[in-house]
Amino acid sequence: MRSKIVAGNWKMNKTLTEANALASEIMGMVSDEVTGDVKVIFCTPFPYLLTIRNLLGNNARVEIGAQNCSEHEAGAYTGEVSAAMLASMNIPYVIIGHSERRQYFNEGGALLATKVDVALKHGLTPIYCCGEPLEVRESNGHESLVKKQVEESLFHLDEQTIKKVVIAYEPVWAIGTGKTASAQQAQEMHAVIRKHLAGKYGQAVSDSISILYGGSVNAANAKELFACADVDGGLVGGASLKSREFVEIIKSI
Ligand code: PGA
Repeated sequence: MRSKIVAGNWKMNKTLTEANALASEIMGMVSDEVTGDVKVIFCTPFPYLLTIRNLLGNNARVEIGAQNCSEHEAGAYTGEVSAAMLASMNIPYVIIGHSERRQYFNEGGALLATKVDVALKHGLTPIYCCGEPLEVRESNGHESLVKKQVEESLFHLDEQTIKKVVIAYEPVWAIGTGKTASAQQAQEMHAVIRKHLAGKYGQAVSDSISILYGGSVNAANAKELFACADVDGGLVGGASLKSREFVEIIKSI
């Protein structure tokens, strides 16, 4: 069975003191209140990874991830962080291809394929993001665009390797806007992605891949979204910065 995952994408938020407090509060509530089989991931800013990872210790349920990594192995790339560095700090997850990276840093399919490769090479699990902007949905091009995003950055992987990837469908119009995809819209797109994976890799492989929904997930809408057959959890931005709300989202799975 594929994993159920709730990942918090903290983006560029919180001071170190605030980040420690947030992580501690969530960890406490998770150990007191969460009984189901769900994996929780904090995707923190780079400078906090080690501190928060140490705070987590051997916590079996809560893990840590980065929000990006360089496509390069090493070298003169000032300000960048490599997958090898993340691996050397025992960071198991990395978000790749978030729409904010695509939009503000011009990251496209071929570059993201390289990032996926370098992450996997160093034993990290990529959380690969895809999703359409509003105008693409309005012109009914959303399914073909998302299929293309999955193809261009993941379809070069072999059957064994694609199983190591987590996919996050995040419609751009729903990110940080308070406008969530309806459960029906989410399920439809997740089913399209799963079918596309099945066409390439077979049903068993496709069924083993977790597909998360992201875009204004909150405590009020999580239950309905997570109840969808092909929604295996969420990638949560704004609501992951509030401990009580994030824990309620985790408990919705
Ligand atoms: P949001 O962000 O929950 O604030 O919409 C989601 C994301 O960007 O991953």
